[in-house]
Order: sequence, then C-alpha cells, then structure tokens
Amino acid sequence: MAKLALLGGKPVRAEAAAWPQWPVHNAKDIKRLTDLTRTNRWSFDGPYEWQFAEAYTKYQGAKYGLCCANGTVGIQLALEALDIGAYDEVIVPGMTWQATAAACLDVNAVPVLVDVEPDTWCLDLEKTEAAITKKTKAIIVVHLYGSMADLDGLRKLCKKHSLYLVEDCAHQHGAFWKNKGVGSIGDVASFSFQESKVLSAGEGGFNMCKTKKVFERIYSLRNCGRGYQDDMTNAIQSGNFRITEWQAAMLAGGLERLPKQVETRDRNALYLNSLLEQIPGVMPMRRRKQITRASYFNYVFRLDPRTLKGLTNDNFCRALNAELRVPEGFEPPYEPLNNCGLYKPHTKRRHKLSAEYWRAIDPRRYKLPVCKQATEKTGVSVHHMAIMGPKKDMDDIAAAVAKVVENAEALKGWKPATARKKYKALAK
Ligand SMILES: Cc1ncc(COP(=O)(O)O)c(C=O)c1O
Repeated sequence: MAKLALLGGKPVRAEAAAWPQWPVHNAKDIKRLTDLTRTNRWSFDGPYEWQFAEAYTKYQGAKYGLCCANGTVGIQLALEALDIGAYDEVIVPGMTWQATAAACLDVNAVPVLVDVEPDTWCLDLEKTEAAITKKTKAIIVVHLYGSMADLDGLRKLCKKHSLYLVEDCAHQHGAFWKNKGVGSIGDVASFSFQESKVLSAGEGGFNMCKTKKVFERIYSLRNCGRGYQDDMTNAIQSGNFRITEWQAAMLAGGLERLPKQVETRDRNALYLNSLLEQIPGVMPMRRRKQITRASYFNYVFRLDPRTLKGLTNDNFCRALNAELRVPEGFEPPYEPLNNCGLYKPHTKRRHKLSAEYWRAIDPRRYKLPVCKQATEKTGVSVHHMAIMGPKKDMDDIAAAVAKVVENAEALKGWKPATARKKYKALAK
C-alpha cells in the first residue's frame, strides 16, 4: 500500500501548475477592454451590456433578461420585483451560500430554512411542502454545485400553493433541465458573475424573468427607480444596482467560451463519477435524469464514514490535497445556514423590525441534519477548475481518492500540526 503524501509518502501528482487555472481570458478580451477604455461609455446601459443581456437570455432560453450588480442583489431584486416584503416568508435551502438567505433579509422577508436531499444537497420536496405556511410567498431553489432539485415537483408545489418559484442560478450558467435552460424555469432567476463562477466578470449579476412587467420592474429597481427607457411616469423608489460596460465586455468573451467549458466539465464529471462509484465508501452525487446538461460550480461527492473506518471529510480533504495539489483544494461543502459564520441576521440593527421579526429570523430555530452531516462528515467539494482539464486529471483524482480510502486506517485520529484552516477556502 502506497504511503499517503500527508504522512510523508510520494504524492499522486506533484506539479501544482499542471492544473487548469480560473478565471481565464484571451487576447480578444484585452482588445475589447482597451477599445472600450478609449470610449466614453463606461457605465450602465451601454452596447456591450445589452448585447450580452440579449445573447445570454437567448442562450438560457429565457424570455427577458438584464444585468445587475451581483448575484446577491439579483436575488434581492427578484424578490422585490415580485412584491415580496416585510414579514413574508421565503423558503431557502439550508445548504447554500449565505447570500440566498441574506437577500431575503434585505427585503425584510423571513428566510425559512429547509433541509436538503442527502444525495443532491438541493431542496427536499417533502420538507419544503411541510414548511409552507399562510405567510409563504416564494420558494428559492438553488441549483447547488452540479446538482438540481426536483424542479418539476417544486413547480407543481408552487402552483398548488400559489407561490413564486425563484431560481438561484449562481452556480450553473449553461445548465439545462429537460433542454430548458436554468433561469427560464421559475418566475424570476438570479445569476452571479463573481470571479469564481463559471461565467465571470470579477463581479456582476443577472436576472431572467417571464413577463415584461417583472422585467421593467427589475430594470427600475436596479437603476435608481427610473422607469424602463426613461419613462419617468413609472418611477419608483430604489438604489443603484447596475453593472459597468467593462464587466459586460468581459462577459461577452466569457459567453463565447461558456458552452465548450460546460461541456468539458460535464464530460469529465460523468467520467469521474463512473470511477468514484467503484471505490468503497465513496458516492457520487445523484444526477437526475431530467438534467440534459449539467454545469458545475464545484464538483462534489460523498463519503460513507462507516465504510471508511470513521474517516470524515476534513481529514479526507487534507489527505487528498496533499496527493493532488489542486490550486483551490478539496474542502467540505457550505456550512448549514443555521450555523454559518457569515449568516448572522442578529448582528444588524436594521433587522430589528419588531420582536416577532427578530425571533422569526433567528437561524438557530431550524434543524438541518442532512446539511450538518454533509458539512461535518460526508461532503467533499472542489472548484470547477479541477474538472476543466484532460481525462488524465480525472484518473489522477480517482487514483488519489482510492489511495486515501485504502489508507483510511492510517488517518484515524490524525490531527494537523496547527489549528489553522487546512484546506484553502474557496473565494465563495
Ligand atoms: C448560491 C449562491 N447564491 C448567490 C450568490 C451571490 O452572488 P454574488 O457573490 O455575485 O453576490 C452566490 C455567490 O457565491 C452563491 O454561491
């Protein structure tokens, strides 16, 4: 049995530089930015912005689409455009980036945290239905990492209870469900273009929606309340949540590259799943048959600590990182929102609408056992750059996973020398 690199053995893969990098750009991006800098159109509503908005909306198969400042603001604008506000309840999965729930607080709604499915980490349909009350106005479904929830079931549920379905697509540009692009399925959708995302402009966001009315409302909300096409008779109260032409110019190049990148990741992920499922104690995520193209922000899989002699995801990730040296590293998935270092509604006085509201937004009132188990014991996650390279990279990842599994006994009780965080945290 080969000795683990973490314990002084030879790593499966030595050269950190040999992994793909992210974000990427080319000479055309630099020319676009240079040319743009010489013009006087740097701010919002410029030609790059609207050309991109049209092309991206069409690519995802949605009816209306427009850019905004970032993916957090995108969710906020989506909720406000649907007239969701004070004391309205919005169902949010317990496992997601904090922004999904934080955006609900930003419109004075109550994020209701619901546990996820053990094999997708996306909203659990039955638990979602059980969480619906008279105050519920919307469900935010997060297409998390590379998985999707039962979208048909969620749509039916929304119809039955007259709720809006909001898609948080921050992770899955270029994903398709029954050949329909994400973002075109719910009533409103939000995307993020933050640096780590699969379509990136450093920062930025996007909304898609089904009706002209909601589109025009989002336009006003993101642009200081101005009516669409400067129709000031429809002006409303709002702030500045716009994107710049530089970001849009970067997105133009990113969109040209997106389909091929998504295809590569999906092909690699399917191949890697086929290798990992042969390793005892390792389980790929469930891929629903309705997914006609999966897009991966992170590639994730699960461990069975019982088969692995008690080895849990933290030491597993440390050992895997020593074997592979992937730039961003393997790490456990998001912390559950009922115990998340960056989701702290009670640290902002603005949230003290009333004693009732203060109590309602306390995340500790929820139990999220499936999220907890995934974060603390079973979940392993790596940034999508690890699955952007050749097939050989997948063989190396699988070989390293198998090596760590074989050595599970040797890692029992192993502790890092320092209490410092062992796996490099992802940008998001
Ligand atoms: C699931 C999810 N939703 C929303 C966001 C927020 O996007 P942004 O960082 O662009 O505000 C993120 C960002 O990481 C995310 O992962």
